[in-house]
Amino acid sequence: MANESLSKAKSAKNDEFYTQYYDIEREVEAYLDYNPDVFRGKTVLLPCDDPEWSNFTKYFAQNFERLGLRKLISTSYAIERKQERYGAQLSLFETEFETSSPHYDRKKTRSHGKIFILEQDENGDSLIDIDDLKWQYLKGDGDFRSAEVTRLRDEADIIVTNPPFSLFREFVAWLVCTDKNFIIIGNMNAISYKEVFPLIRDNKMWLGVSSGAKEYLKPGGEVQKMGNTCWFTNVDHGRRHQPLELMTMEDNIKYSRHKEVAGQHYIHYANYDAIEVPYADAIPSDYEGTMGVPLSFLFKYCPEQFTIIGQTQGDSGKELGLKPYPRELKKLNPSLRDGQLYYIKDMHPEKPYARILIRKKQ
Ligand SMILES: C[S@@+](CC[C@H](N)C(=O)[O-])C[C@H]1O[C@@H](n2cnc3c(N)ncnc32)[C@H](O)[C@@H]1O
Repeated sequence: MANESLSKAKSAKNDEFYTQYYDIEREVEAYLDYNPDVFRGKTVLLPCDDPEWSNFTKYFAQNFERLGLRKLISTSYAIERKQERYGAQLSLFETEFETSSPHYDRKKTRSHGKIFILEQDENGDSLIDIDDLKWQYLKGDGDFRSAEVTRLRDEADIIVTNPPFSLFREFVAWLVCTDKNFIIIGNMNAISYKEVFPLIRDNKMWLGVSSGAKEYLKPGGEVQKMGNTCWFTNVDHGRRHQPLELMTMEDNIKYSRHKEVAGQHYIHYANYDAIEVPYADAIPSDYEGTMGVPLSFLFKYCPEQFTIIGQTQGDSGKELGLKPYPRELKKLNPSLRDGQLYYIKDMHPEKPYARILIRKKQ
């Protein structure tokens, strides 16, 4: 296999992990705390799912009545496609589920995606819940990019899922070309993608309430630890309207619990008019200029308190108009390049970690 396809297969293989029930519950309940009617009368689509056992399907089906949903649609990707992409044996969940069902078709079950719909009480127990889910095969393989699943997107009001991370850019593009609401999981690195960051900067997308699950499940049931995931959404929640409580610059220097701040001064970048702030809780409340803060600031970002101006990853140096890195400094730190933000500390040029550039709202 050529190197490129090998690495594609490897990253696609890493797509196969599943979200745990309590992580979904914790996040979704926070939107409900802010607006108890957020799902009322709405159609929710769960694409890129495995409806026969997915916790997304389980959560929304079990809470169908409490949330006041109009309709729940959940779709899965064909087993054959997964095997082509991941080259691995998949769980028995996925191969044995529907053999007892009257729709079961031995061939289709491998090559077609499935759709599960919950809309009304089917079994006459006067409840609409997981036992009323109806399913059938999709016409195609359930790829979210297919016309068939795209029509379901257009029918839905809110799209919720943990999409394949290797297709995250495409998935976001597929979502935001509509005016649909969404609540999705992604890798935190996606914040700086050129397809994602402008949406965050322009308040068309923000981080969810919880900091993201730390553990997911692999197809075999074993736990996979992932410390770098978060929720991305355009559904409003209360946390983003709580301003950060901050100290003045003088008080930070006197009292900060961070050794990089206490007794120090805030360093000004050498090639951009902004100060370096290494922790979100060390943002000086009285600083009127631009500040470079860690990506984790976005978990505390309140759009009424701050404006996001830019970021420092990828090609952003050009957009920010960063002054070039002087040749005479190259011998002090040869790893620095033109287009990168830097500051001088103890006579040494250094590049900060990834930074979001923000400014206090007037
Ligand atoms: C990260 S997993 C999450 C599964 C499920 N949503 C959950 O969180 O439990 C992403 C799923 O998307 C599926 N998938 C991969 N490529 C896809 C595509 N092009 N269209 C739809 N689903 C896809 C994968 O097989 C995988 O099951």
